[in-house]
Amino acid sequence: MWLSLASAVLLAPTVLCHSYFNPILPGWHSDPTCAHVPEQGTTFCVTSTFIAYPGLPVYASRDLQSWKLASNAFNRPTQIPDLWNTTGQQGGIYAPTLRYRHGTFYLIVSFLGPETKGLLFTTTDPYRDSAWSDPLVFEVQGIDPDIFWDDDGTVYVTSANSGATSGNHIVQYSLDLSTGETGPLHYLWNGTGGASPEGPHMFRKDDYYYLMIAEGGTELGHSEMMARSRNRTGPWEAYPRNPLLTNRNTTQYFQTVGHADLFQDGSGHWWAVALSTRSGPAWKNYPMGRETVLAPAVWEEGEWPAIHPVRGEMRGPLPPRDRNISVGEGSWIDQPDRIDFIPGSSIPAHFVYWRYPNVDDFVVSPQGHPNTLQLTPSFYNLTGTAAFQPNDSLTLITRRQTDTLFTYSVDISFDPKTADEEAGVTVFLTQDQHIDLGIVLSENQTDRVFRFRAQGHGNYDGLLPKQTIPVPTTWQSIRLEIQAVNDTTYAFASAPSHNPNQWSVIGYADTRIVSGGTGPFTGSPVGAYTTTNGGSGSTPAYLSRWRYEGQGQKIDYDWIVPSDVA
Ligand SMILES: *[C@@H]1O[C@H](CO)[C@@H](O)[C@H](O)[C@H]1NC(C)=O
Ligand SMILES: *[C@@H]1O[C@H](CO)[C@@H](O)[C@H](O)[C@H]1NC(C)=O
Ligand SMILES: *[C@@H]1O[C@H](CO)[C@@H](O)[C@H](O)[C@H]1NC(C)=O
Ligand SMILES: *[C@@H]1O[C@H](CO)[C@@H](O)[C@H](O)[C@H]1NC(C)=O
Ligand SMILES: *[C@@H]1O[C@H](CO)[C@@H](O)[C@H](O)[C@H]1NC(C)=O
Ligand SMILES: *[C@@H]1O[C@H](CO)[C@@H](O)[C@H](O)[C@H]1NC(C)=O
Ligand SMILES: *[C@@H]1O[C@H](CO)[C@@H](O)[C@H](O)[C@H]1NC(C)=O
Ligand SMILES: *[C@@H]1O[C@H](CO)[C@@H](O)[C@H](O)[C@H]1NC(C)=O
Ligand SMILES: *[C@@H]1O[C@H](CO)[C@@H](O)[C@H](O)[C@H]1NC(C)=O
Repeated sequence: MWLSLASAVLLAPTVLCHSYFNPILPGWHSDPTCAHVPEQGTTFCVTSTFIAYPGLPVYASRDLQSWKLASNAFNRPTQIPDLWNTTGQQGGIYAPTLRYRHGTFYLIVSFLGPETKGLLFTTTDPYRDSAWSDPLVFEVQGIDPDIFWDDDGTVYVTSANSGATSGNHIVQYSLDLSTGETGPLHYLWNGTGGASPEGPHMFRKDDYYYLMIAEGGTELGHSEMMARSRNRTGPWEAYPRNPLLTNRNTTQYFQTVGHADLFQDGSGHWWAVALSTRSGPAWKNYPMGRETVLAPAVWEEGEWPAIHPVRGEMRGPLPPRDRNISVGEGSWIDQPDRIDFIPGSSIPAHFVYWRYPNVDDFVVSPQGHPNTLQLTPSFYNLTGTAAFQPNDSLTLITRRQTDTLFTYSVDISFDPKTADEEAGVTVFLTQDQHIDLGIVLSENQTDRVFRFRAQGHGNYDGLLPKQTIPVPTTWQSIRLEIQAVNDTTYAFASAPSHNPNQWSVIGYADTRIVSGGTGPFTGSPVGAYTTTNGGSGSTPAYLSRWRYEGQGQKIDYDWIVPSDVA
């Protein structure tokens, strides 16, 4: 049994092992890629963001347990004008590869917009958004590009080319970093026969070229395979004990493990990161989508690597605890939100929009409204209509759900004037799948009502929630709250801001509504929105006292750990 052999090596008494919990990047963080920077004693990881903006979050860690948002590599529309025209809910930025070489970070991705383009971003300062370059645009073959330097310094891109009829295969071509010109195409490998060979990464070690790829699709059959060759273009010898990493055909709570990357830390220990879904093989209830997990690996000279299978609790030779990162644009991933939109502050770096926002619709502490975020409504609601265009910016502002159990709340001051003007809170997977609690002006234009409803049903086949009840006339500012009361249920509640003890639950919704369906690659953030629902209104809403707090991470059936032990 190679697994127990690998475990025995990994847990050898000479190596000091500490326990830690997966996922290391909780919430929607798919397709992780990491680079360790020895001179900074820091590891950086980036994940896919599809059409969310800002995108390509760069997380930094000195201990592989605490992760801080250093920057968003994609942080201004001039970097990717095509996002204005990207229609699909699961289009945009696909799996990146991050590498560090001679002081520069290289981040390479495919962008699936009106056409598919390769983009290469660079920086020498990963802690500042503005230091990330505009991308070098190149002709990419398919998705999931890897960037690799051969011994002679030539740069190669390896990607998963999806032929129109023949399925994916792994191809490679050179890339000129000054012009973006690409060289001739080499077919490298088609994997071991599983579906969707993709997510390739190339490594050079002990005079071998190692090619690691994901196989089986990003669902329950997901797995990671490896092959090696003395030559860069093959022929390839597959690892005899493939898959290198998978949880397929197990009953583990962590499923869909695959799309891995490997890096070596400052002490010489190898680690794998991969994506995983906390769902068990039932695979129905996973509002956070695909998250990033970490697993210790061993990679002896001349040998194949071995990676410890992914579990919720893991042991490995972690660096000592170290949260000493004072720089960066964002906060620690496990830090609660206590955001008061104080005058002069900016919108936090971990907040995300769905495609580009109209920046004028989101104003921090405007004249006469200190300590608020003024939201000007979008014409379209979160779903939109058939006439909706990708450049019709939604007034929607969110943060990822990063905890199985959490409470999110925000105070909304909203005095609608026109029928169907709406401001509220949402759990939002895609425009076709979201659960909303809105404050709406009723048809007769005299009273505000709470309207609780869901769009789409994802993996849920029960009755969708639907509720309309009057807002008490004495309530001015209103606190709306979304709480994951357990791993399958959100409770939506309201209270007057001046008397938050006067809670009432307006309705419950099943988390499967925002799992799967039209958002198989993404995960659900929570946040606030305003819209005229296609009407003529323009009444702004004022948000204040934005709070998000994690209250538990489910890491196995019947095992929930506190959110802040990570
Ligand atoms: C993209 O959208 C912009 C403006 O929204 C428009 O000017 C441009 O023609 C569009 N490009 C494509 C390729 O659709
Ligand atoms: C890999 O797949 C491609 C596309 O289907 C095919 O042209 C090629 O012959 C395959 N190569 C091998 C070695 O199977
Ligand atoms: C193993 O998993 C794959 C992918 O989910 C599935 O197709 C296959 O039937 C499973 N095999 C067994 C023996 O469960
Ligand atoms: C590998 O490449 C070398 C030159 O770098 C060449 O001599 C050799 O024939 C190649 N081997 C195979 C199996 O292609
Ligand atoms: C924290 O990091 C800073 C900057 O790298 C360094 O100057 C300082 O000595 C560190 N402090 C500790 C307690 O490690
Ligand atoms: C949005 O894009 C469409 C189609 O490209 C274009 O006709 C329209 O003018 C654009 N709207 C804005 C506000 O840029
Ligand atoms: C207006 O509509 C609300 C909600 O439907 C209802 O509660 C209220 O009685 C109506 N008021 C009048 C004056 O019709
Ligand atoms: C989750 O909470 C809801 C609402 O309180 C309750 O109806 C449901 O039974 C709970 N489910 C589980 C699995 O505890
Ligand atoms: C969105 O707005 C359209 C009209 O603009 C309406 O038909 C639809 O019911 C609304 N849907 C949601 C979920 O808000």
